[in-house]
Amino acid sequence: MSPYPEALRQRVERYLEGLRFAREPGVSGLDEAMRYSLLAGGKRIRPVLALATAGALGADAEEVMPLAGAIELIHTYSLIHDDLPAMDDDDLRRGRPTCHKAFGENVAILAGDGLYAEAFRLLLTEQRGEPARVLAAGAELAAATAADGMVGGQYIDVTETALPGADGLRHLHELKTGRLIGASVGCVLLLVGSAEDARMREFRSFASELGVLFQIVDDILDVTGTEAALGKTQGSDARHGKRTYVSEYGVDQARALALASYDQARATLSRAAPDGARELEQITDFIFTRTS
Ligand code: IPE
Ligand code: IPE
Ligand code: MG
Ligand code: MG
Ligand code: MG
Repeated sequence: MSPYPEALRQRVERYLEGLRFAREPGVSGLDEAMRYSLLAGGKRIRPVLALATAGALGADAEEVMPLAGAIELIHTYSLIHDDLPAMDDDDLRRGRPTCHKAFGENVAILAGDGLYAEAFRLLLTEQRGEPARVLAAGAELAAATAADGMVGGQYIDVTETALPGADGLRHLHELKTGRLIGASVGCVLLLVGSAEDARMREFRSFASELGVLFQIVDDILDVTGTEAALGKTQGSDARHGKRTYVSEYGVDQARALALASYDQARATLSRAAPDGARELEQITDFIFTRTS
């Protein structure tokens, strides 16, 4: 496995640990369920990607921390809901019983709802920057997780309505996973980016390829990974007859497509950051070689 920007991950971890959601004593159980899933040790790829993008643009990573935290809150909500019995019906997540197993389905649904709202509260109250830039980043984050984004992708996934063929499967992955990973870069471009349009476009196409690469590898690991390393149920996709890169192409061909996607992401990144962007390169390599 390739090295990971560990210092950035630790900064994200400390920031997330400091967040408290509910002050009302009557809802402390909800706060507990939200923090249970949030602080269960995810890889933090999306917020780390946001901080690394800020670094690549010459900004201080700390400047975009509320945005980065908001993205991880949204990602965690998506995992809680993804695991529900009506969705992927999984019992293990981030090495622990899933939120609904630990707190019940009703509380898990609310914990997800709460994390989504808290994400925008965090962004809108804590993120510094020109108001127009913060607003643009917020709009991008909302769009990336809305009906034409992550939630739309999850809809296509659970209703099995992806169009046939390679384009239909790629589109599913672009929406359900790619859009939030794309927003982890795109929102930072809006917050601290420059007016160099061509370069910003390269960053965006890097991020969208990275999102697809991430989900191809996720599909492969669902078959080849171990529960201990993944911290989630292995074989979930096959159990549900999900359409994945492995069901469509088999493991070997899926690996070849992951390699092509990785090459494409690295080539686009070197056009976006011709002088190098070490942390973004590390994240790309990690996403390709990860086993967890
Ligand atoms: C898993 O995401 C869900 C997908 C979008 C495939 P991660 O693999 O980033 O999960 P954590 O955050 O590390 O637990
Ligand atoms: C989940 O995809 C995507 C979102 C949560 C939006 P998967 O269903 O493949 O994720 P895992 O494998 O359960 O983590
Ligand atoms: Mg799913
Ligand atoms: Mg799932
Ligand atoms: Mg999966």
